Amino acid sequence: MKNEARRGLLKNGFLVGLGSFFGVTFKRLAMAKSAFKATPAEVEGPFYPVKLPRDQDYDLTHITGRTGVAQGSSILIAGRVMDTEGWAIEGARVEIWQANAAGRYLHPKDANPAKIDPDFQGFAAVLTDVSGAFLFKTVFPGAYPASLSWVRPPHIHFKITHKRYATLITQMYFPDHPLNADDLLLGAKSPEEQALMIARKEASSGTLTKYKHTIVLENRW
Ligand SMILES: [Fe+2]
Repeated sequence: MKNEARRGLLKNGFLVGLGSFFGVTFKRLAMAKSAFKATPAEVEGPFYPVKLPRDQDYDLTHITGRTGVAQGSSILIAGRVMDTEGWAIEGARVEIWQANAAGRYLHPKDANPAKIDPDFQGFAAVLTDVSGAFLFKTVFPGAYPASLSWVRPPHIHFKITHKRYATLITQMYFPDHPLNADDLLLGAKSPEEQALMIARKEASSGTLTKYKHTIVLENRW
C-alpha cells in the first residue's frame, strides 16, 4: 500500500522535486523520523457546526435541493495529506468549516451581524484518495471581528482524522493577505510554522482561483 501511495504521489507530480529524492535516497528517508515538518495545530475555535449539515459534499457553493449559488468568489482548494516521512495518507477524513463571503459562520453563537448565506454549505467532509489528495470548491471566506480590536484574516478551519494518526485541528490561511500580519493566532506561530499554514496560490482554473495546500500529519511512532 505504501508503495502504491508513493507511486501515486510521483505520478501526479505533486512532489516533483522530491521524486528523485525519494528514488535516490529512499532508504535513508524511510529511516528519518521527521523528514517533513508536521502542520501546526490550531484551536478549533467556537464555530465548529453544532449540527452537521445534510449536504457535506466537496462543493460548498451549492446545497443539494437548492437552485442558488453561494455569494462571493468561488475558489478551489486542492490539497494532499501526508505524514512526516512523506507517505501519502489514503482514507483520511478531511473536514473543513468556514465563514461565508461576508464573514458569517453557520453557527448560533456567531454574533457577527453579517448575513447568513442560505446557499452556502459552510462545512464539508471528504476522504483522501490513494495519493492523499482532496479537493474542495468553496468561496473565499470573509474576514470577521473576533473582538473590538482584532479582525481575523480569511481562513478555513480543518480537522483531519485517520485511525493510524493523531487527529489534527488546524487553520489554513491565504497568501499575502494584509490581515495575516496582525492576526493574534497566526502571529503566535513562528515564521516557519506560518509558512506551513498558508496555502499556495496557483494559476486560475477558468474563472476559479485555485489554492494548493499540503497537510502533514505527525507519525505516531
Ligand atoms: Fe474561524
